[in-house]
Amino acid sequence: MSIVAPSLLAANFLKLEEACKMVNESEADWLHLDVMDGQFVPNISFGIPVIDHVRKATSKICDVHLMIETPENLVPAFKKAGADNIIVHYEVCPNLHRNIQQIKELGMNAAVAVNPHTPVFLLEDILADLHHVLIMTVNPGFGGQKFIPHSIEKIKQLRKMIDEKKLNVLIEVDGGVTIENAKELVDAGADVLVAGNTVFSSENPLETIKQLKKFNR
Ligand code: DX5
Ligand code: ZN
Repeated sequence: MSIVAPSLLAANFLKLEEACKMVNESEADWLHLDVMDGQFVPNISFGIPVIDHVRKATSKICDVHLMIETPENLVPAFKKAGADNIIVHYEVCPNLHRNIQQIKELGMNAAVAVNPHTPVFLLEDILADLHHVLIMTVNPGFGGQKFIPHSIEKIKQLRKMIDEKKLNVLIEVDGGVTIENAKELVDAGADVLVAGNTVFSSENPLETIKQLKKFNR
């Protein structure tokens, strides 16, 4: 069964408590939380005080996706706010190994995200240190964008690298995930499906989450 991570970015921000309750009652495994700084990405979302409240309202694993520059300055604060997983972007971490060590030393699961133009082979020498890799399947910054088809090839390449090294690293995909493309993503090697609009714009979010979960790698 795939791991499903609804992205709170697509929820109604006036009704975050309701959104958390829905996710709690669903078969979702993780809650995906998108943090944007208006520098690395051309948008600003929410940050530490919001996550602090969301943490108290959710029973799910908090998967915090940092689309921010110099994440090392804020990683301890996200730990304090209750993050379980921290994802940093390859493109803003010249000392990536140090970033990963910091996250792990604070007792969280460490992950790296790659933008659509960043090849997965660049992760070769950090892969063994990671809990998961997030492949961005849209350009980061906004929900509701169209899935970039070339991402399938990247998922396959990364799956091959992980399997050849006999590692236990999960592959997460983020952006434009739908019930229609979920099977292809899982078949290519994805373990974790992030879904924002597919879940929160759905007539029946609980059923949509159930549908996304049913794919097996
Ligand atoms: C985009 C974010 C995604 C976003 C996905 O920068 O990283 O997590 O919420 O939204 P959908 O699933 O609507 O494409
Ligand atoms: Zn995200």
